[in-house]
Parts: sequence; C-alpha cells; structure tokens
Amino acid sequence: MPHPPLFLATAIEVVLRAGDIQLEHFKRGVRIEKKGVIDLVTDADVAVETMFRKLIASRYPEHVVLAEELHETDQSPNGSGHRWIFDPIDGTTNFAHGLPIFCASLALEIAGRVEVAAVYDPTRRELFTAERGGGAFLNGTRLRVSKAEDLVDSVLCTGFPYDVHETAADVVGLFARFVGQARAVRRLGSAALDLCYVASGRLDGFWEQRLEAWDIAAGALLVEEAGGRVSTLVGGEFNVHGGEVLASNGRIHEAMMAVARAHKEEHT
Ligand code: IPD
Ligand code: CA
Ligand code: CA
Repeated sequence: MPHPPLFLATAIEVVLRAGDIQLEHFKRGVRIEKKGVIDLVTDADVAVETMFRKLIASRYPEHVVLAEELHETDQSPNGSGHRWIFDPIDGTTNFAHGLPIFCASLALEIAGRVEVAAVYDPTRRELFTAERGGGAFLNGTRLRVSKAEDLVDSVLCTGFPYDVHETAADVVGLFARFVGQARAVRRLGSAALDLCYVASGRLDGFWEQRLEAWDIAAGALLVEEAGGRVSTLVGGEFNVHGGEVLASNGRIHEAMMAVARAHKEEHT
C-alpha cells in the first residue's frame, strides 16, 4: 500500500491542476447553468471534476470518490476504505460572477476518517495542506489558529445554504446574534477557504449549516491540525457527512456554541 505522503502528493497534484483549469476558464469567461434557483454550475466545475476522476481512477483504481457535480454513481468506501472527497470549485457563485474567491478542495478519508487534505486558491497561489497528526501548512509554512479570547475581539465568518430563500429567518437570525457580539462577521462564499482562514488565524471562527462533505472535509482537518476545534453548532462531535460545522481557534468555541444554543432554543 502507498505510504500516506504519496497520498498527499496526489492531493496536491489534483488541486494544483484544478487551479490551472479554473484560471483558464476564469480569464476567458464561463458557461453557467442552474442546478437550482440560486445554485450554479459552470463548464469549469465539470472540467475540473473530470480531470480529478480520471487521475484517481488511473492511480488508485480500488479507491472510491465522492465529488459534487457528477456524483450520481459514487459509492461508499469498499474494502480498502479509501475515499477521495472533492469539490472542483468551492465558491462557484463567486467564480461565475468574476469574484476571485474560490478554490479546489480535496480530502482523503481512510476507514471513515479524514487523513489528508489539500485546498488550493489559484488567484492568491495559496496551497493549504494537512495530514492527520502532521500539522497544517500554507505554502509549506506551519499554520496556527489565532489567539483571540473573546467574541468581541473576534472576526467570524459564515455562509448561507442554497435553501436560504426558504430559511432566511433562521439563517439570518443566527447571523444577527453573532453580528451583535463579534468584532465583525464576514461572508466570503467558499466554506473550504473559510475553514483554511480559521486554520491560518485570519478568521477566529466559522459556522454554517446544510453543507456537504466536499465543502468541509479538507478544511476541518486543517483547523484541527492548526490547533483549533471543530464540532456541530451546539458542541456535538463533528462528522464530515453531518452537514453542519462550528470551527474556531478553540478559545472562543464555548462562546460561539452559547450563541448557537440560544438561537436554537428560540427557533425550536
Ligand atoms: C458553497 C460555498 C459557500 C457556502 C455554500 C456552499 P459551492 O459551495 O462553500 O460558501 O455558503 O453553502 O454550498 O456551491 O460554491 O461549491
Ligand atoms: Ca462547495
Ligand atoms: Ca462546488
């Protein structure tokens, strides 16, 4: 069986190639289709995912994949228990509108646990990587989460799910609670980068609901490996397939959970 560093090398190769394809399309203009009322897909998403599927199939034919755009036939992990979880473009709405905040995000799950992560932002040439137990890195430099102790000294971030037209009261209600307590709250449009920014200390905390595994699998490992904490909104054990995430530098985690709990109590 290949040694895990070879898996990291493969993950890096995929996201760097993804970045080249993304930039090519970004510069010449993209063809956009609607998957839902506000949920977009471009020809670049499909081109990147096709490259990824071919590369993994040729290198690791026994591994399974889970990726956003062509996943109808994706299977659960087989005997080897290796599953590559990929978002070809995280931040598609930004990408489609010419806003340069997007990335490719790839995680390798082995026997149900994410072990390897690579996220690449091609417009800033920032490569975020992590291996479980081996630390988190940005372009090879070790990452540590921030030292903020209180919400009032923290910059937080969130995202809005694609059902937000139906769930705006709930989503914006929680947003308003955080706005009322934090130094600032941002909404950047790429959950994978939001998590990388928590890992690198640019943000102190992030929360979002109704996400998919490909949005958060890599970023969550980066936060943990940078010394941060990841859980559900109210402090339950984090599950990459569970749909929600609260990630922080650890120091403000309890305070963020208290905000989420107060909101949940009012809304149930
Ligand atoms: C989306 C982005 C966004 C988040 C959405 C995701 P996509 O992924 O991560 O920040 O708020 O919930 O679905 O569609 O750009 O891959
Ligand atoms: Ca995504
Ligand atoms: Ca995507």
